[in-house]
Amino acid sequence: MTSFVLGTGSCLPRRVLTNRELEAMVDTSDEWISTRTGIKTRHIAGPGEETSKLAAGAAREALRMAGLGPGDIDILLVATVSSEMGMPSCACLTQKELGAEAAFAYDVNAACSGFLYALDLADAYLRRDPALKIMIIGAETLSSRVNWRDRDTCVLFGDGAGACLVSGASPGSGLLASRLFSDGRLFDLLCMDSARGFNPDLANARNTGSYITMTGREVFKHAVRAMSGAVEQVLAQGGLKASDIALFIPHQANIRIVNSLIERLGVPSEKFYVNIAKYGNTSAASIPIALDEAHREGRLRPGDLLLCCAFGSGFTWGASIVRW
Ligand code: UT7
Repeated sequence: MTSFVLGTGSCLPRRVLTNRELEAMVDTSDEWISTRTGIKTRHIAGPGEETSKLAAGAAREALRMAGLGPGDIDILLVATVSSEMGMPSCACLTQKELGAEAAFAYDVNAACSGFLYALDLADAYLRRDPALKIMIIGAETLSSRVNWRDRDTCVLFGDGAGACLVSGASPGSGLLASRLFSDGRLFDLLCMDSARGFNPDLANARNTGSYITMTGREVFKHAVRAMSGAVEQVLAQGGLKASDIALFIPHQANIRIVNSLIERLGVPSEKFYVNIAKYGNTSAASIPIALDEAHREGRLRPGDLLLCCAFGSGFTWGASIVRW
């Protein structure tokens, strides 16, 4: 039987920033951050650890696990909102870094839901040609996009990348069900301006200078409601029950969001993979980093059902079920 996932990988910057260190930077405390979010540490990129470099690092690990080389990649998708360049795409920079010359490459911007959007795209390509090998990466350096004087946001985010190499699977395995959603009406509850432009007629008075801004409490409520709804819908699409799922990997934004999901779905908490304490919210990278860790820890066996769900800026959200 051909596996859908040929390999997974992740890459985290060397530097670890603790809650205690943040206490010296903004008016916060380890106690507040730990109890309100579940975050203890996060990785922060340094020299040579740009988004595309982290992406390439994660992809190399996935290739090594698969026993393949960069020349074997046919399509390279990078889910990110924090590439080091506006143009070209992070995917093209990652392609160059890897030497994946046979691939075509582009970015997917769906914020924290980006990995699930890219997975859905990969599945569509594989329906056209199951022999394709598609590298899906979530990579972020949000440390370059937060206002380090804003305690509402700077304590939450971290940097890193996760990758997953997929190819056509045998019938009954692969991406069994996928439900994606977006709603731009509430975009300003969680957003980040682009660089200030040079057309004065398009000057944006509310441009904060590319920082992430978030109305946390509102986003929290929407995240819980939207993700639990997406999980119910994707289970219905697959004709499955929550008890059929071997492992849930939710987007890692806040431990209290994950706990609310567990409660709403009535699933044993051991079935939820959580690593937010170590990495904080790494946006599009959070699910593939967790997937790589869970895989390497032996949490997924052939035939297992994996359910991933995400929520992020846009708003975008969704859920996917993969048979391992
Ligand atoms: O990944 C994409 C999706 N993102 C999310 O899902 C994030 C969703 N939101 C959240 O995770 C939570 O809303 C936060 C962690 C961002 C905030 O937690 P909260 O329990 O909703 O706190 P809050 O914003 O209601 O603020 C409560 C208090 C406020 O003080 P007052 O007004 O009660 O005096 C804040 O000023 O906590 C204060 N506060 C802090 N205190 C210490 C906010 N940030 C901090 C901080 N340290 N870092």
